[in-house]
Amino acid sequence: MTSAIATTGLTKRFGKRTAVDAIDLDVPDGSVYGFLGPNGSGKTTTIRILLGLAAATAGSVQVLGERIPDGAGTVLPRVGALVDGPAFHPYLSGRDNLVRLDAADRTASPADRRHRIDVALERVGLAAAAGKNYRAYSQGMRQRLGLAAALLRPRELLVLDEPTNGLDPQGTREVRNLVSEVATAGTTVFLSSHLLSEVDQICTHAGIMRSGSLVAQGSIGSLRAALTTRLRIDTRAREDAVDVLRRMGLGDAVADHQGVVGELGSAAAEDVVEELVKSGIPVRQAIVERPGLEELFVALTGEGFDVDE
Ligand SMILES: Nc1ncnc2c1ncn2[C@@H]1O[C@H](COP(=O)(O)OP(=O)(O)OP(=O)(O)O)[C@@H](O)[C@H]1O
Ligand SMILES: [Mg+2]
Repeated sequence: MTSAIATTGLTKRFGKRTAVDAIDLDVPDGSVYGFLGPNGSGKTTTIRILLGLAAATAGSVQVLGERIPDGAGTVLPRVGALVDGPAFHPYLSGRDNLVRLDAADRTASPADRRHRIDVALERVGLAAAAGKNYRAYSQGMRQRLGLAAALLRPRELLVLDEPTNGLDPQGTREVRNLVSEVATAGTTVFLSSHLLSEVDQICTHAGIMRSGSLVAQGSIGSLRAALTTRLRIDTRAREDAVDVLRRMGLGDAVADHQGVVGELGSAAAEDVVEELVKSGIPVRQAIVERPGLEELFVALTGEGFDVDE
């Protein structure tokens, strides 16, 4: 599988602060890649470098097979981006802002400009508010206009920095649908978020940032597989149950207020339950606990989603 985005040792320092610390991103062609991490973990800084808006301190970057920043001129027209909003003019309407942006794109044919802009406005739900001055837009409307700008032309790659920022739940759902739609049409999507819940349904891959480091990366399936599955047994014969679980290879089995729990490892839950029953232990309930991505995210980024210092 070829990569839409690949970095090696990508590093960005601001003075003594290392905002991005030697990350090796690998965004497969055709994926929807969720770039996750708490506030301040280095997502925007990375994205700005990918788009040639900032220079890396060290490391190399390839986007759609071209080196950045050297190949930015040829590669950027193939990339739609939403980052810090393009420079929208406050006294122009949403529509006229898009006209300006589209006119500045040498590769966009003027003949179908109107149609292109209408479609983009429609897709982000701004058709009705298209004539309003940008200045009078709410944050959610501004975000939508930024998305419309990114979607003006069909692109091979979409890079969206916190596309759901400022949107209400309905808007968030719309962005999710939009991303799925674009991905189905064959565009690779790289989107950042500090909220896993906003992206986990649509992503095929994810990378998790913590304090500038990429602490996990891969397909959603492989990330899930890295999580340990636990077996929880509800029983009043806790001590005996712990013994059986340990004998069955659940080495870390312990009793807690609800019963006993241990990491399943290679043992099959049904075998453990059979063994418990054979040993005369009354099993009221057996639950296989598969932690979700949310737990992985919390485990890797630190609980409480604190701002990274
Ligand atoms: N231009 C800059 N000068 C100095 N420090 C910066 C600059 N830009 C970012 N930083 C620092 O780099 C770190 C990473 O910031 P970045 O904006 O990339 O995080 P983020 O993951 O996008 O956070 P958020 O979720 O809040 O958008 C932060 O500590 C931030 O203060
Ligand atoms: Mg950011």
